[in-house]
Amino acid sequence: MDKPKVVLGVSGGIAAYKACELLRRLTESGHDVQVVPTAAALHFVGEATWSALSGHRAATEVWETVHEVPHVRIGQQAELVVVAPATADLLAKAAHGLADDLLTNTLLTARCPVVFAPAMHTEMWENPATRENVATLRRRGAVVIEPAVGRLTGADTGKGRLPDPEEIFEVCRRVLARGPLPADLAGRHVVISAGGTREPLDPVRYLGNRSSGRQGYALARTAVARGARVTLVAANSELPDPAGADVVRVGTAVQLREAVLKAAADADAVVMAAAVADFRPAHYAAGKIKKQEGQEPAPVELVRNPDVLAELSAERARPGQVVVGFAAETDDVLAHGRAKLARKGCDLLVVNEVGERKTFGSTENEAVVLAADGEETPVPHGPKEALADVVWDLVVRRLP
Ligand code: CTP
Repeated sequence: MDKPKVVLGVSGGIAAYKACELLRRLTESGHDVQVVPTAAALHFVGEATWSALSGHRAATEVWETVHEVPHVRIGQQAELVVVAPATADLLAKAAHGLADDLLTNTLLTARCPVVFAPAMHTEMWENPATRENVATLRRRGAVVIEPAVGRLTGADTGKGRLPDPEEIFEVCRRVLARGPLPADLAGRHVVISAGGTREPLDPVRYLGNRSSGRQGYALARTAVARGARVTLVAANSELPDPAGADVVRVGTAVQLREAVLKAAADADAVVMAAAVADFRPAHYAAGKIKKQEGQEPAPVELVRNPDVLAELSAERARPGQVVVGFAAETDDVLAHGRAKLARKGCDLLVVNEVGERKTFGSTENEAVVLAADGEETPVPHGPKEALADVVWDLVVRRLP
C-alpha cells in the first residue's frame, strides 16, 4: 500500500523548529511527507533540515521545478495538508485565497482535509482580522487548532503558542482516519476528569494508581475537535496539555471533586475518566514517617473519599446534563459494569477490562459502553481517540 501523502506547510514563525518534531512523527508513523516552507520559514529552519528529515527536496517557490507543475501537483496529490506553524499572515492569505508562493498555491489546489496549527503573539491571535480569518477557514471545513497558552517568543506569556507537536500529530492522525469531524459539540461545555488521584501519607509518599490520563486526554482532544469548550480536570498526568482545552490540575480526590463540581455547574456533559482513589489515609504526617528499628510498621488507617460520579449523577447541576463514568474491571466485566451503572446512577458507563498489560499507560483501548436506557455499544480494540469518539457520539444523542 502507498504511504499516505502529507504536505507539511511551514510558515515563518519561530515555532518552525517544532515542526521538525512533527515531521519526524509523521515520517516515523509511515507517512510520505512533502515539506513546503515559506521563504520566511527558511529564515528559522533551513532547506537542508527539511529535505534530510523528509527525504524530499523542500521547495518554497513555484519557479523551482516548473516542468513538474508543483503549484498544482503537490496540492492535488495530498491526502492531508497540515500547516505548522501557521502565522497570522499565512491564515490571512489562506482565508482570502491568495497564492503568491508554493504553500499558498498548494492550499488553493488541495481537495483533501487541511489542518492549521497557528502560532503567534496573543495580540495577533485576538485581533479581529485574525478572528475573522480563522472563522472563515473553519466555516469552509478547515481544522484550525486552538493555540496553546504559555511562554511566547520573548519574555511574555499568553495564548498563541504552537501546540505540542505530539498534539498536532494526533489531530493529523485523526483527520486522516475520519476526515474533519462534525462540529456537533459546538456551543457545548464539557468537563472531563483524567489521570489518577494521589492520596498523601506524608510529604514524600502517597497512595496512587497507574492511570496515565491517556483516555481522558483523548476525550478532551476529540471534544475540542468537535467544537466543544472543554475543561479538563487532570490528576497527576504528565501528558502535554491538549490544545484548546482549559486544564485544571489537581492532586487528591478531594481536590478533584471540588474542581469537577465547580466546572460542572454550567456543563452539558461530565465524563469521569479519572481513576479516583476510593480511600485516603486518615492521617497525614506533616513530617516524613520514619522506620523504627526493631518495630513492626504501624498499619495505615484509611477513610472513604467522596464518590464524585455518584454525586454528579444524583444532583445534576443542570437539567439534561449527561453524566458518564468509567469502570475498570478484571473479571465478570459486563455483570459488574451493569451493577455499577445502576449503583452510580450515571447515563453511560464505559466498561473496560484491565490487567497487567491492558489499558493502563497504553495508547489503545477496548470497551463496552453501557447506557442507562439499556443500549450496549461494543468498541473494538483501537486507539483511545476512537473510543472517545464513540463516547461523544452517544453523549450527543442524549443531549437535550
Ligand atoms: N469515581 C468517582 N469517585 C470515586 C471513585 C470513583 O467519581 N471516589 C468514578 C471514576 O471516575 C469512574 C467510576 O467512578 O468514572 C468508577 O470507579 P470505580 O472505582 O471503578 O468504581 P467503584 O464504585 O469504586 O467500584 P469498585 O471499587 O467496587 O470496583
